[in-house]
Amino acid sequence: MVQKITVSVIKADVGSVCGHTRPHPSMLDKCRENLADGVKQGILEDFYVTRVGDDINLFMTHYKGENSKDVHELAWNSFLDAAKVAKSMKLYGAGQDLLSDSFSGNIRGAGPGSAEMEFAERDSEPILFFMADKTEPSAYSLPLSRIYLDPFTTTGLVIDARAKKGFDFEVHDVMSHKKVTMSSPEETLSILSLLGDTSRYAIKKVFSRAGLGTAAVVSTDKLNLTAGKYVGKDDPVCVCRAQSGLPSVGEYLQPFMNTMLVAGWMRGSHYGAFFPCSPDHSDPTYFDGPPRICCLGFQLCNGHLQGLESIGSKAGVHTPMDFFANSEWDTARNNAVKASKFMRSHGPFMPAILGPEEMEYTSRPEVLNALKKRFEDIE
Ligand code: F6R
Ligand code: MG
Ligand code: MG
Repeated sequence: MVQKITVSVIKADVGSVCGHTRPHPSMLDKCRENLADGVKQGILEDFYVTRVGDDINLFMTHYKGENSKDVHELAWNSFLDAAKVAKSMKLYGAGQDLLSDSFSGNIRGAGPGSAEMEFAERDSEPILFFMADKTEPSAYSLPLSRIYLDPFTTTGLVIDARAKKGFDFEVHDVMSHKKVTMSSPEETLSILSLLGDTSRYAIKKVFSRAGLGTAAVVSTDKLNLTAGKYVGKDDPVCVCRAQSGLPSVGEYLQPFMNTMLVAGWMRGSHYGAFFPCSPDHSDPTYFDGPPRICCLGFQLCNGHLQGLESIGSKAGVHTPMDFFANSEWDTARNNAVKASKFMRSHGPFMPAILGPEEMEYTSRPEVLNALKKRFEDIE
């Protein structure tokens, strides 16, 4: 039997230059050094280090399975070293997502976000890596619903016999730490009934019902809940396998042409529109945003990441497809700025700001406390 490959993305914000903007290039280099060592030690097959906004994203391939201590420790140490670099330059938010003093065997609950999937590599295996900044895991619920549940997005759900079998959804209740698996197309409306509440429910995984294995995985680590209070946002990643019975690359990308409001902009407390762009253009420049979404694509080749670089290039040295870099996305970008500007016209009023339970920052308890004696009954 062929050994299954695992694709792991582990991400963290460990500091950036001039506010919550972009990690210093030397921090990314530090991570590359660490992961290159991981290849030498036989932990990883391959890797790619990139960023979206202020978040460093480590894409890693290996045969160690999901939740591997070795892989998580390698990522943890890479972030620790990058944070040291950030601290030496007094960068902003240096080490902010590293909530624990020491590594305890798994990165989950320690601050960084993770999305991992183990599967049998097909003869040809296109993989998409979505990365978002200034938002939260349920930001993927709307686009993934359009991709896997909506035949007006994914014509494959109608005309590809394997896609037509539908998909199983592992939905997480991020408040109560419970999960449920539901099946499309039969339970489509019930799935949407949960996912519509983006404050509570998020898609963790999607599975093919045609025997192709995991189709997508999202990082759903809620930093606010992890730390018992908000200490940053979740800025989630989503890894998707494409084609041949799964949605095609184009079907995965199409929903991002629509303007979508997502939660988590500015102080984790505002709604803004998803701005699709290249990682090179993911610096938050307008009111710390708008929330960015990037999509990089690779082919898997016997556990290695193959992009546009020459065949057999060194591990970690890659040029992925950068799907939102092209000018056809200018329309989506312009619409995102228009929608975000409209939201900003509401200032500190809802719906520009999130509901009270979801605000990352709030002064309400102190305000109410100070007014305690001045509140009177209304006759
Ligand atoms: C952080 C972010 C920013 C900050 C904001 C306030 O990723 O999205 O919008 O929340 O700049 O940051 P502090 O509280 O660090 O001054
Ligand atoms: Mg930050
Ligand atoms: Mg961020």
